[in-house]
This record gives sequence, C-alpha cells and structure tokens, in this order.
Amino acid sequence: MALRIEPLTEAFGATVSGFAAREPLSAEIRGEISAAFEDYSVLVFHDQPLSDEQQIIFSENFGPLEETLPGLVGSGSKIVRISNMLADGSLKEPGSHLALFGTANLLWHSDSTFKAAPAKGSILSARQIVKQGGDTEFASGRAAYESLSADMKQRIDGLVAIHSIATSRRKVDPNAVSAAQETALPPVPQALVRRNPANGRKALVLGSHIGAIVGMADDEAMALIDELTGIATQKAFTYRHVWRPDDVVMWDNRAVLHRGRPYDEANERRLMVRTTLAGDGPTAVDGRIV
Ligand code: OGA
Ligand code: MN
Repeated sequence: MALRIEPLTEAFGATVSGFAAREPLSAEIRGEISAAFEDYSVLVFHDQPLSDEQQIIFSENFGPLEETLPGLVGSGSKIVRISNMLADGSLKEPGSHLALFGTANLLWHSDSTFKAAPAKGSILSARQIVKQGGDTEFASGRAAYESLSADMKQRIDGLVAIHSIATSRRKVDPNAVSAAQETALPPVPQALVRRNPANGRKALVLGSHIGAIVGMADDEAMALIDELTGIATQKAFTYRHVWRPDDVVMWDNRAVLHRGRPYDEANERRLMVRTTLAGDGPTAVDGRIV
C-alpha cells in the first residue's frame, strides 16, 4: 500500500498518510517515509496516537536515537519531554533552570547542532495541546540556500560556524545554562552549508546556537548569520504547524530551522514528546568541512 503525500507549502513540507505509526512498518513504507523525509524536510502525520515506547520503535525505523541531555526531564532516556510541566505533572517554576531551557526553544534553532555530530532528524508527538498559541514554526534552510545568488553561495560554501548551547541559553538568561552542562558541551564547529548525500541538495544550517564563524570577525560573522536567517525565515520559506491531538511531525535538522511559539505557560498545560535521530558524524573538523 503506497502512502499519500500532500505538499504543505510550495517550498517544503508534506502531510503523509496511509500508515499507522504505532504498528510495525513494512520495508516499503519505511522506504517511502525515508524518501519523503529527504525530499520534503518536514513531514506531518495526523491521527497517530503513540505511547513513549511506540514512538521509540517508530523512530528507530529511521536510525539510531540520541540520548537526552543531562539535567532535562527524560535525561538518560531516548525521550525528551518538551513541556511546561515536570514529570509529575506540576508546572515548572517560572524562571527556574528547566523553565528557561524551554524558553530557548522559542528561538530559531536546529536540534543538537551544539553536539559534535548534530542530530539528523527529530520526531515530535503532541500528547497534550493548548487552546491558544503553542504552534511550531519551520523555516527551510534548503529553500533559502537555493534562493541565494551565485556570489553569495560562493562566499559561504565552505564556511564553518561555531555552535554552543551556552550561546543560545544566554540569549534567554545568563543563568540558563549550568556549569556542568557547559563543561559537558563545549563549543563545536559545524558546516554553514550542508549537502544532503541522498539528493545532493544544499541547505543553510543556522540557529541560535551559533556564536561565531571560523576566520571571521564576530560582528561580520553575526551580521552574515542575521542576513541568512532573515532569508530563511521569510514567509515563503516557512510553515507554521498548528497542532491537533495525536499529530506527529518529523523534521530534517540538516535542512530546516524550527521554533516554538509562546502560549500561556502559567495557566495551560502542553506536553510534546520528542525522539531525536542521531547524526552520523561531525560536519567540520579542524575548521574544514568534512
Ligand atoms: C523541539 C522543539 C518546539 C515546540 O521539540 O525540539 O524545539 O514547539 N519544540 O515544542
Ligand atoms: Mn528543537
């Protein structure tokens, strides 16, 4: 049985139906979802209720999973709880370390680019949604790259950016990152332009974790990052996902940026569960693209 694939925007994204994520996938369906992931960068699956265990099994069809960072709800497991609640269902204290970590998700980012081997993809399931706000937006670094002039492509192909979790967390609050996290996750180099080995298409890899570009003065580097981010996040290259119960969204961290949108965290409860497809290796070593 073939899948039904309906594009979400002209630039990227598709709704995919015709399979059950909580049941074992045939090799054919797994292959079709993988191919759609490479082509569309963001896949939306509606009406796919999942338990944590089912989400892990579904996700592992597409590669090994990352383990959740120390100091987060779900750390040491393959599940991250993106929520304003603690594991016991109580609300996180506003301004607390855990709450600030969540606030950083409102900045445009790509998951785990602060790790030497950045995440390939992320799979997020809606477990409890809010009445207002709490959408998730995506921006295509691929559509952005493909829209650039030949001169700009030449200027940026081969550049290496420095990503760190401390950089993005400090944008939210100077205390948002703990000393232990900073020691465990030192800054890492990443290619600014990544080529997808499956189809050869290139994408900008941007996001809030970037603090510098190798060999460039900081003000020039950040001006360039801001310019490229402006291109990637223009309306034509973005998609806003308004969550329905039991939605699952799978995205390619090598090709898109994303950000959460605000909601009333003091009065509503939102729970999203993420599994993260591990990357296969570093994208830059010794200041050069690999
Ligand atoms: C994530 C993330 C944003 C959101 O799951 O990686 O950034 O809207 N989520 O929950
Ligand atoms: Mn994220």
